[in-house]
Parts: sequence; C-alpha cells; structure tokens
Amino acid sequence: MRKILITEEQLQSIIKSDLSGTVNASKDEIEDMTKVVKDIEKGKFRKSPMNYTGGKHKLLPQLVPLFPKNIRTFVDLFCGGCDISINVSANRIIANDLDNNLVDFYNEIKNMGIEQVLSHIDEVVNKFNLTIDNAEGYNAFRDYYNHSSKDPLDLFILICYSFNHQIRFNRNSEYNMPFGKNRSYFNKNIKRNLIEFHKIISGDNVVFTNNSFRDIKIDKLGSGDFVYCDPPYLITCATYNEKGGWGENDEHDLYALLDTLNAKGVKFGLSNVMMNKGKTNDILIEWAKKYNVHHLNMTYSNCNYHALDKNVDGTDEVYVCNY
Ligand SMILES: C[S@@+](CC[C@H](N)C(=O)[O-])C[C@H]1O[C@@H](n2cnc3c(N)ncnc32)[C@H](O)[C@@H]1O
Repeated sequence: MRKILITEEQLQSIIKSDLSGTVNASKDEIEDMTKVVKDIEKGKFRKSPMNYTGGKHKLLPQLVPLFPKNIRTFVDLFCGGCDISINVSANRIIANDLDNNLVDFYNEIKNMGIEQVLSHIDEVVNKFNLTIDNAEGYNAFRDYYNHSSKDPLDLFILICYSFNHQIRFNRNSEYNMPFGKNRSYFNKNIKRNLIEFHKIISGDNVVFTNNSFRDIKIDKLGSGDFVYCDPPYLITCATYNEKGGWGENDEHDLYALLDTLNAKGVKFGLSNVMMNKGKTNDILIEWAKKYNVHHLNMTYSNCNYHALDKNVDGTDEVYVCNY
C-alpha cells in the first residue's frame, strides 16, 4: 500500500473543513469518518484485484460510514469490481452485474482453491512469458484467449496486463484491449488483493448473480435489507456505457425501482454524479429531492490525500439514500 504522508492534524483539518460545509455531518459522523480514513491508511479496506473502471475503492472512507448498520441482506446491484461488496459486513451478500465476464470469473474462482488459482496464473505467465514490457507475449496470450481458451480466469490475467485494466470486446466478442506496456502486470499488490478477495467471496454468504437490475427479485427483501446501487453514470464516460449502454430509460427505470424499494421499507443507497464537466443530470437532481443527498466533495487522487481538491473538474459526486 502506498504510504500517505500526512500528519494526524492535517487529516483532521481536511476532514472537518470538507465535511462541515458539504455533508450534514454530526460530530459523531466526523469522528467516524476520521476513523475510517485512518483505516484506509492502515490498509483496512480491501481492494478488488480487478482495478475496475469506476471502482469505488477511493470513496470507501466516505461511503461506508453512511451505510446502515446491521445489514441482513446486502445487494450490490451493479457490483462491477466488487470494491463495495468486499468491504461490507452483512449476513448475506448478493453481488450482481449485467456483465457476464465479471460474474463468470467470480463464480469460477469461488469454486477453486486459491492455490489452484495462483498456480494457473503462474503457469500462464511462464508459458507466454508475460512481463511488464513483453508486448509479443501479451498479444500471443490474447490470441490464445480469443481463439481457444475463453476461460474467465484467463480473461482476468489478460486484464491484469492490459491498458488501464479495462474490459472491452469487439463485435466478434474478441477481447481487444491493447497491452499496458510498462504499466500493467500481475504485480504483488494485485496478487495480495486477489488472495484476500478470494477469501471473502468463497464464503457461503456471498452469491453472484448476472442480471439486469430490472430482473432482480425484490419480493423477499424487507426492512433490515440494504440495496446499494452504483450504476453507469448518465453524464460520464466508461467502457460499460459506451454504445448506448446506459440511457435515460435506464435512469428512469432504476429510480422507479428505488421508489418501489422505498415503499416496501427496504433501505437503498445510490452513488452517482449530479454534475460533471459542465453537464448536469437533471433526472437525478429532480428525483433525489424526495430523499437524502450527501455531497461527497473530496477528490481522491491515487489515495493521496494531498490531492484533496474540491470539485476539481466541477464534479458533484453524490450519495442518495432513503434513510
Ligand atoms: C460504476 S460500475 C460499478 C462499479 C462498482 N461499484 C465497483 O466498485 O467496482 C457500473 C456497473 O454497472 C454494470 N451495468 C451496466 N448496466 C447494467 C444493468 N442494466 N444492470 C446491472 N448492471 C449493469 C456495468 O457492467 C458496471 O460493472
């Protein structure tokens, strides 16, 4: 974990100055937040091995204190890299995503021992001579994955070596991210994160599902359960909302689902942005008036708290909840 060079005093003052003006934070909440930020320093929050675009790891110190306590069933409706699911304590965790590549990978390693997972990775790395700068090895392995393997664990290995660790396929369903030369490889941090990730998801209380949010079964949810939503953002870009992947209809349907959960007494929390690079999400702004809005104004840059600039690019990152 990267060392964070900041004194206790500076930390306190950053947290207080930021929270006091932007979140309705009580003294207790500020103290809670201080504790959580310290925990991230000590590596207490787990990090997904996926390095997923839009992953919420850097926002954990702000989000986790806002989550309800004593959760019975936790639903991570748009789990992505699972940065949230692996940091929440609940009797039961349902991690869902529309992307079957993610869910297939999670289910595959859940059913394997960690030694088996690591020895498969070792074997592939040696066979294709995957290194931080061997583009030929990467391309040969990508061809092998696309034309022979299609194994979800092999896809994970590819992602470790790809540019920005992104998941992108062409029309022929071939993985087409280029090599992340001199940047991306299966390094010791990813390995450590994978081992920890595997330990958590192997638990009987963690289940992965591969559905659209629209098809999620909510009839068994009630008070004591908590649905967290981190959907693609309508007004920002990411590979998973390219080519019309997320539009206004999705936005309206998701808010209708959250209204239904609210009527059933189920707690929900939604991450999103109300403003980004000059654009505003008016559908969200209007809908959120019915609920509690927390503005998360700290911008975390590589977990470096020196870079705590407010609204660097005019982004208004929010957490909307019904409790
Ligand atoms: C912002 S990312 C979630 C990141 C995640 N919270 C994390 O920490 O890694 C949004 C996710 O929503 C998924 N997604 C897109 N459309 C969806 C849909 N209709 N139903 C469920 N998941 C969807 C994408 O595949 C993507 O993984």
